[in-house]
Amino acid sequence: MEVGGHPETGDGKGEPFSSNRITANMSTIKAIAENYQTFNPAAYLQNNYVPPRADFSNPDSVVPWKLKCLADACASGEIGGQILVDIGSGPTVYQVLSAFELFKEVILTDFLEVNREELKKWLHDEPGAFDWGPFINHVCSIEGKGEPWQEKQKRLRERVSRVIPVNIHQPCPLGTELAPGTVDALVSSFCLEACSPNYPAFVKALENITGLLKPGGHVLMIGALEESYFLAGKAKLSVVSLTEEMTRKAFYDVGYVIRDFRSYTMPESMKVGVDDVQGIFFVWAQKKESN
Ligand SMILES: C[S@@+](CC[C@H](N)C(=O)[O-])C[C@H]1O[C@@H](n2cnc3c(N)ncnc32)[C@H](O)[C@@H]1O
Repeated sequence: MEVGGHPETGDGKGEPFSSNRITANMSTIKAIAENYQTFNPAAYLQNNYVPPRADFSNPDSVVPWKLKCLADACASGEIGGQILVDIGSGPTVYQVLSAFELFKEVILTDFLEVNREELKKWLHDEPGAFDWGPFINHVCSIEGKGEPWQEKQKRLRERVSRVIPVNIHQPCPLGTELAPGTVDALVSSFCLEACSPNYPAFVKALENITGLLKPGGHVLMIGALEESYFLAGKAKLSVVSLTEEMTRKAFYDVGYVIRDFRSYTMPESMKVGVDDVQGIFFVWAQKKESN
């Protein structure tokens, strides 16, 4: 596994934008980037990836719902290829636990170096890494092959070839690391709406990441519905509040066919004071052969 850096896409530490691309929106985008500098991966994991949100004994818990959506799309037999890219991985890997099996190479990405370091810690099985074991075990039970979860974990660690910077607000979100039109599928969870200043910027970001995909390529996206903020330690991050309709329209306008769309209403028991999210969407969409 190689860990890359690219000055134009930003490494989460320095200046993430080249001056000639500054537009009216850019100052807001830049403010969001600055706000992310206080994002704390450990606090974020604690807020979202332990019970009650990740309770594998509770059928209403949100993480099992997300894993089932992803597993169902991946079981369709229609998704697969050479390269899978996860956009805005953050410090998490649950979002690729089904899809990674269908690709030869998996690339994880994030804007912040602290998140890329957190991912490396898990990939190298270092002390203090987050325990994704229960999540992997759950996906193994959905898949129903009777495989010991440790084997899936080992395979995922081997399959990830790179952890690289990304900036969804750039026309080439992965800079020179991956050329447009070279990726077979994308996964992205809670990224685009969590780092865009408004709906047009969310749609533009979707267009930017779509440029990476081959025609006919697939995207599996999970995101927040009707959320205005979330917490990650000292950081309070603004979120573009999306409805189901706005989400579907964005995919339609950017040139996708929606293959599956599901939504989840956040039960009171999952509202734990770390955000104001009202629901979650899952989209499986396929880029049209020609736009
Ligand atoms: C809410 S977290 C989502 C993390 C993870 N994918 C999950 O499912 O929990 C949003 C992620 O977007 C990343 N991010 C912030 N600005 C970004 C940008 N301009 N381009 C891409 N990712 C960005 C953050 O570093 C953070 O990891």
